[in-house]
Amino acid sequence: MSTTAIPPLRPFAIRFGADNATLEPQGPTLTRRMSDLEGLFADRHAWEQAVASGDPVVYTVVSSPVPEVARELPQSITTIQPGHTGGEFWMTKGHQHPDPQGEIYLGLAGRGGLLLFDGDRTEWLEITPGVIGYIPPGWAHRSVNVGDEPYRFLAVYPGSAGHDYGWVLTHGMGLRARRNGTGVDLVPFGAPGATSAHPHGPTASSH
Ligand SMILES: [Fe+2]
Repeated sequence: MSTTAIPPLRPFAIRFGADNATLEPQGPTLTRRMSDLEGLFADRHAWEQAVASGDPVVYTVVSSPVPEVARELPQSITTIQPGHTGGEFWMTKGHQHPDPQGEIYLGLAGRGGLLLFDGDRTEWLEITPGVIGYIPPGWAHRSVNVGDEPYRFLAVYPGSAGHDYGWVLTHGMGLRARRNGTGVDLVPFGAPGATSAHPHGPTASSH
């Protein structure tokens, strides 16, 4: 692993377009559809139905051009669409950093939650525009849209932290965020109607 980007980056400004979450200049982008979230929703039947009926986009991630290498500080903008599957709010896959390092999320739009799990303890942080959520080293993290409009946040993270998605499939996230009227119910991961993660789901990939 290199110690910085090669060739070294020069200082530069990145313009954020708040209306449609563009970055200029912009790096890689990715789109997660429902079919990319196999094994993550408790209600597998509802997940299968959602895939079969249009396979909707659940979230997108737009990255800055700063590469994910040691000593650099990449950023990304994630937008999670509003929705729920089997009563569970739409969410990101969630990941652990293979190299335990911290990260911050800054709420930009909508109403979200930041679910954190260290394998024992679980924390839930409400993230709205202007709120910074701190993710300490060693805590797996997942974002959830608990509102009725797109939820958007900025992430800033060490370039060598990495993304381990398999950890979440093995360990779960401690809690699930379920819709309850206009509110949120946080239920234990293995509660009735909230079965454990599918053992044959996707493993690590980018984001
Ligand atoms: Fe992260």
